[in-house]
Amino acid sequence: MTFRARHLLGVEPLAPAEITSLLDLAETYAALNRRTVKHGDALQGLTQINLFFENSTRTQSSFELAGKRLGADVMNMPVAQSSVKKGETLIDTALTLNAMQPDLLVVRHPHSGAVNLLASKVNCAVLNAGDGRHEHPTQALLDALTIRRAKGRLHRLTVAICGDIAHSRVARSNLILLGKMEARVRLVGPATLMPKGAADWGCEVYEDMREGLRDADVVMMLRLQKERMDGGFIPSEREYFHRWGLDAEKLALAKPDAIVMHPGPMNRGVEIDGTIADDINRSVIQDQVEMGVAVRMAAMDLLARNLRAERGARAAEGGAYV
Ligand code: NCD
Repeated sequence: MTFRARHLLGVEPLAPAEITSLLDLAETYAALNRRTVKHGDALQGLTQINLFFENSTRTQSSFELAGKRLGADVMNMPVAQSSVKKGETLIDTALTLNAMQPDLLVVRHPHSGAVNLLASKVNCAVLNAGDGRHEHPTQALLDALTIRRAKGRLHRLTVAICGDIAHSRVARSNLILLGKMEARVRLVGPATLMPKGAADWGCEVYEDMREGLRDADVVMMLRLQKERMDGGFIPSEREYFHRWGLDAEKLALAKPDAIVMHPGPMNRGVEIDGTIADDINRSVIQDQVEMGVAVRMAAMDLLARNLRAERGARAAEGGAYV
């Protein structure tokens, strides 16, 4: 098994072989998760703390379920009722939790780079569950697994990532990961929601949805990140849906067997037509949720192996951990 990382802060440092190893292991967990008894023991005896400074439904619940299925003691830190609200800094919160000897810390934070900073202050494995506009590694990995299962491969597929690219950590992590796996990525969206310099990132950039979707194998829609917008980025939601929302007419331009993805939460009628989201012949949105649990089990399993190896080596030298 090739996976050497200490933390999972982003997909940027991962080698293609590490990505493939993680996805292969996640396949075995996807199979386990379809059984009636879903228990593994990869995280037996370990403590996992979920620290979410931003709202989350799927990511937090799937990390919790992933930890529990693999035998970890899982605690969800209720940030809204914590000392964070009394003005405690991120670093103080991190040091406090670190003193409780967790093994895995899963962190979501509204500021890009906050999770990397936190990882430098603790001696457990840190998993980034989304930091600002920066990275959301487990989302890109679960998207890759979903695509690989639907299409049998990642290389030479045309993937159109559409909508609010500028504010999206999902788009950024997917662009990086899919590029490493030799898929062809297109970014599609209004100029106001396209990051400056996107044209230099080795992908094609389109403002016109119809051009961007032409012959695509995968259509990945993104939510309008209104919480990260401080002004008028779009004329109106109605106009946005008309030009960039995924409806049957625009989808007809993609390949006949193109799959439709969305990381959730969806705004039906804003970025995607509800009937397309629910079309079981095109939409793999529920598969993404299912693969989310499997990928998070695989990610925590691999990090726990590395953590154990590192601590074992330190204990052999007379250090603290056994
Ligand atoms: C994404 C996120 O939080 O970045 N959602 C998720 O993790 N499922 C995308 C979003 O919030 O739009």
